[in-house]
Formats: sequence, C-alpha cells, structure tokens
Amino acid sequence: MSTAWKSRYALRTKDLKTSTIRELLKITQRPEVISFAGGLPAPDVFPVERFQEACHRVLQSHGHQALQYGATEGYEPLREMIARHIARYGIKAQAENVLITAGSQQALDLIGKLFINPGDRVLVEAPTYLGALQAFSVYGAEYVNVESDRDGLRTDLLEERLRSGPKFMYVLPNFQNPGGTTLSEGRRHQLVLLADKYGIPIIEDDPYGQLRYEGAHLPPLVVIDRENLRRDEGYSIGNVIYLSTFSKTLAPGLRLGWIVAPPDVILKLVHLKQGADLHTSTFTQAVAYEVARDNFLDEHVKRIRKVYRERRDVMLESLQKYFPPEVTWTHPQGGLFLWVTLPEGMDSNKLFPTALHENVAFVPGNCFYARNGFEDEGSRHMRLNFSYVQPEQIREGIQHLAAAIRQQRLEIQAVHS
Ligand SMILES: Cc1ncc(COP(=O)(O)O)c(C=O)c1O
Repeated sequence: MSTAWKSRYALRTKDLKTSTIRELLKITQRPEVISFAGGLPAPDVFPVERFQEACHRVLQSHGHQALQYGATEGYEPLREMIARHIARYGIKAQAENVLITAGSQQALDLIGKLFINPGDRVLVEAPTYLGALQAFSVYGAEYVNVESDRDGLRTDLLEERLRSGPKFMYVLPNFQNPGGTTLSEGRRHQLVLLADKYGIPIIEDDPYGQLRYEGAHLPPLVVIDRENLRRDEGYSIGNVIYLSTFSKTLAPGLRLGWIVAPPDVILKLVHLKQGADLHTSTFTQAVAYEVARDNFLDEHVKRIRKVYRERRDVMLESLQKYFPPEVTWTHPQGGLFLWVTLPEGMDSNKLFPTALHENVAFVPGNCFYARNGFEDEGSRHMRLNFSYVQPEQIREGIQHLAAAIRQQRLEIQAVHS
C-alpha cells in the first residue's frame, strides 16, 4: 500500500528527512536521562493557576465568541496588546501590522510560502535555527551561509555574500538558537545598512529577546532600520519583518506567535494563512490575552528571568568545574542555550551515544547547519539547553557529559597510539 502513496508525493517532499533533533527528543524523554537537548521552557514556571482563572473568565464573559470562528488576522485585543507591548522596545506598529500565527514556526512556514521559489537563496547564519531550515527547505530554498563568532553574525563577510542575490536574510539577533550569541550593536547597524544598500529584506526572529539575564537591551533590527534610514512615514516601506512568540514567555503549548510587517505583506500572509488553518485558535488567543493582561506577563517574565539566569549560571559554573580545559563554550547573555566547541578530532555525533549511555543528552551541532558545504561544520559542536533541567540535575548532567567527553578522548588517543 505504502508504495502507491510514495509515487504520489509532491516533488517538494523529495529531500524531506525527519528532523534528527525531534527523533533525539524522543529518546531523551526517558525519565533517567538528564536532557540538555530540547529547547523546552521549564514546566515548573508555567502559570497554571492563572491559566485556569483565565479560561474560566473567558468562558463566562464571552464564551460563545471565544468558541466561534474568528478573523484570520487574529483576536483584536491581543493584536493591540502586542502592538503596545513591542512599542516599549521602540517597534512602532499598529494592530494592523500584527498577524497572530500558530507559533513562530507557522510564521516561518508562511514566510517561506510567500517569498521562496524553488532555487531561491536564503541567507542564514551558520549555525542557525533548525526549524527555519526545515520550513524554508520545503519551498526549495538554497542557502547562503554566513559564519558567526561570539558577537553573532559576521557582518564583515556579509557584503560579498549579499552580492550573490539572496531573496532575504534570516537573522536571530538575540541569544541565538543554537549559538547563545547576541549580535553586537555595531553589527546590527552594519547589517541594516547593507540590507538597504543591496535591497535585501531581513526576517528578524526574536523569540528570546525578553529573556535577558545581563547587559543592556539592544535595539531590534526593525527599529534600527526605521530610525537609521528615516523610515518615519509608516510601516509600509520597512525592510524588516519581525517575529516573536509567547512560547518562551508564557507557554509553548499555546502555539501562539506573531508577525509584525507592513500592511501589504500582512495581507498576503493572511491569504496564505487562510489556506493553512483559517485562523489561530480563537479560544487560545482569548485565554492568552486574559492571562497576559494587567501587567501579568511583565511580572511573569521577571520571575522566569530569575529562574533561567540561575540555571545558566549553574551550567556555566559546572562547565568550568568539570569540562576538560580544551573544551570552550559561549557565554549567553540570555535565552535558553549555549554552544560548546570540542577539541580538534572530536565528533559530537559520536559523543551522543556515549553521553546517552551516561544518561545525559544534548543536540549535536550538525543539525543546525544548512546544506551547501556547511554540513560537516557542526561535528565539533553541541547545543546545551539550560532552562529545562533543575539546577541540581544540571550539575549532575554536566559531570556525566564531562565523563563521556573524557572517554571519547581516551578512545581517540588509543587509536592514534
Ligand atoms: C529561533 C526560533 N524561532 C522560532 C521558534 C518556534 O517557536 P514557536 O513556534 O514555539 O513560537 C523557535 C523555537 O524554539 C526558535 O528557537
């Protein structure tokens, strides 16, 4: 039977592989495994009671409306709230600039659908968010990679790569997934100026911006674009589309994200979203609004920043204490991840089964590189998540991971001697 279906799959599914990371996550869900693999928020900080009250209030005050079909653009009070919320970061938007999506992941898919013809190039950071590569590749994207260092995307390499004419750039300026790096302010300005010079738009993906644990907030690209290039007349001439989500600040199970874009782009995206799911769940949007209102979201974000900052610090201290000195890692100023570089000759893919044997899991670096010559780049790297696991388990897991690293090094030395 399955062969009959196989012959009918569309061409765009030809190169689809199950995501290694999602497969890994299945194994790492075993209770004995300390998992630094997923990008999961800490479940112990989900505001469950507030959700309970919010569901009750929504059903009581406007249950019939909340259970009905709704506008594709999203629930109006929520769109207005988002517009007000992002204004404090300098992002000037009206509700008409905001489209509610089923998580940022749907935003990435809709953007792929709107902009990418088969063979179009998308400029991405190397490494970058795996889910974006998955979303864009379905539409036949090819990739132009730009390497990163501790200050984020290397804008000194950008001009040459922009000459190859990518359709757009996909950039994560804050606490990048997977690198944990933050694009410096100087580079933000360079990026925006080069985007303008070559007429290449930017997709700015910012799920983690509010989760800053140290240092000063840096202006989003969408703000620099508007201010530097004096795009004061309104959103319609902006060069940056901005994405964010409630997944890391409220709960990923909500599946609520948003796109901020010029109205003509929103209109196109609305048409595409209609074909995908008509609209994001009305009930979920109404509940999220009820949860977030009256300053609750701000207070909640303060609480989770405290919890995650502590976990980040415990992970950094444990790495310092237990990892061999030849291993290095990034120092994230926020977000959920840090990026580890193993010594020459080591391979994080081979390390993975050894680590799992020690009941600890991570994501091997290869998963985060686009095709196009960069596939092997990640084998000396791994991504570690520090938000999900309790501090005590972080200490224990890092000790186990250090043991796995030492074991692999001994095996390599034995082969070479
Ligand atoms: C950089 C980035 N973009 C988008 C997403 C998707 O988030 P969601 O669909 O849960 O909003 C994630 C999730 O981890 C992410 O790390």
